[in-house]
Amino acid sequence: MASVPSLASTVQQRLAEGLSAALPEAGSADPLLRRSDRADFQANGVLALAKQLKGNPRELATKVVEGIPANDVLREIEVSGPGFLNITVTDEAIVRTLAARAADARLGVPYAENAGTTVIDYAQPNVAKEMHVGHLRSAVIGAAMVQILEFTGEKVVRRHHIGDWGTQFGMLIQYLMEHPHELDHKSDDEVSGEEAMSNLNRLYKASRALFDSDEEFKTRARARVVDLQAGDEQTRALWQRFVDESKIYFYSVFDKLDMDIEDADVVGESGYNDMLVETCRILEESGVAVRSNGALCVFFDDVKGPDGNPTPLIVQKSDGGFGYAATDLSAIRDRVRNLKATTLLYVVDARQSLHFKMVFETARRAGWLNDEVKAVQLAFGTVLGKDGKPFKTREGETVRLVDLLDEAVDRATAVVGEKAEKVGLTETEIVENGQYVGIGAVKYADLSTSAARDYKFDLDQMVSLNGDTSVYLQYAYARIKSIFGKAGDRTPVAHPELELAPAERALGLHLDQFGETVHEAAAEYAPHKLTAYLYQLASLYTTFYDQCPVIKPAPAKEVAENRLLLCDLTARTLHQGMALLGIRTPERL
Ligand code: ARG
Repeated sequence: MASVPSLASTVQQRLAEGLSAALPEAGSADPLLRRSDRADFQANGVLALAKQLKGNPRELATKVVEGIPANDVLREIEVSGPGFLNITVTDEAIVRTLAARAADARLGVPYAENAGTTVIDYAQPNVAKEMHVGHLRSAVIGAAMVQILEFTGEKVVRRHHIGDWGTQFGMLIQYLMEHPHELDHKSDDEVSGEEAMSNLNRLYKASRALFDSDEEFKTRARARVVDLQAGDEQTRALWQRFVDESKIYFYSVFDKLDMDIEDADVVGESGYNDMLVETCRILEESGVAVRSNGALCVFFDDVKGPDGNPTPLIVQKSDGGFGYAATDLSAIRDRVRNLKATTLLYVVDARQSLHFKMVFETARRAGWLNDEVKAVQLAFGTVLGKDGKPFKTREGETVRLVDLLDEAVDRATAVVGEKAEKVGLTETEIVENGQYVGIGAVKYADLSTSAARDYKFDLDQMVSLNGDTSVYLQYAYARIKSIFGKAGDRTPVAHPELELAPAERALGLHLDQFGETVHEAAAEYAPHKLTAYLYQLASLYTTFYDQCPVIKPAPAKEVAENRLLLCDLTARTLHQGMALLGIRTPERL
């Protein structure tokens, strides 16, 4: 199906025609159109143009209006204030546009004109470690960006850069070697995610204790790191067991989060081991990196430590070891060369921004990033407790993600249960809805403020029925579905000849902006813009629902059919939008 031009773009085009008729010399000046409360749209572009041409803005505005060819979209254009244009579109144009959207499975949303390939680095927990709220943010924001970008036609390659390498594995592997039955289980199927994590925790604590107290163990553990890096087979096999055990746990959490993570997309730090030496060689030979006290470093004019001395990016340590930076630089090479990325997107905590700034700049100097390939960190802020401090347990430990998710689902199930009788939900539906509402609430809270900002993790607020929450949107959706259950033989039919009520116009104009919002969220890596749009959609629907009866009291047949069109498109837009955010919309709630 062909995409549907939005009313905003049609109006924009008419204005541009008026502009060039009135002022051929103005070329392709932007009329600067936006939605407005006073009329449907307001255009401010004439003001700047008049200033530039040293003309009278009101006169110019009038000329522009006169220059607009006759058409059936614009009902009224009024010159107001110093030279604004207030524009009202016809009811007919609104209904026709909505009908065209309703006829398309993509709701008329166009594909991006210049789609590329984005490699997105998100949901990257660390092996043998518990997942925490930071990993939640990366997973939730990343998954939303994947869906949003794919919906616009971008090719997306997912990369879960898990922390599966580093010196701590020497200690773990050595311990497992000396306590060979510690990770035994009959078969992987019999281990739950919780058990896997508790096994890993136990091993981590025991090996740490030994490492700290037993000098000889420490020496053996350090030697084990060398064996691991040298690719010693037995050592690698034990390392693999830690990775596998951790994956059981990760997948159980992603499953709880209602998120699909494919094994093939999990390419952890270790996946770039074979490239590290070459990465360093290229950087050193090209002079991008230099030796400094034995370490291979990249320096930056604007990155200095508190003592005023430059803080370099260390690509290789003086003992020959490679760290986080060498891996990330190698990953960039792989993603650009082998995955043919045009954009590298990293959904990572803002506290790693300096690392990425230095890594990206290094990659630019090396020519791996350039005008054709860009890298962006979608940096997210910290999750805070109700007290506004970084989220910790009462004992001061980091909060386990699973506990949070379980609690969210429990709370949501209680909320769902309260209304269950009225709706006639079965026991199974209550359980399922509890999951959709609980997990949806957590995701929504994460996606409803701009990612860069810190936010408070407040479950009471998250599952509240009134306010900017996912459950408010989910109820709006279910309410529409129940209307269709009662609509009998009436089905949505567009009636462009009908006059629209104010609430119908407001809802219709907003529905028409879905595509633009999705594209904006994609281009700016700002899923919160889509979230805000959907919340407003649900609010406008609530007003419409209060003011414009569909079933009872029964309006004229055509009016009911036209309203059902609005209901149908609202439901589908909510469903599609929420799906892009990774949130389910149950049919009955
Ligand atoms: N595993 C890291 C952490 O838990 C995040 C990895 C981010 N991605 C990357 N390419 N460095 O903090």
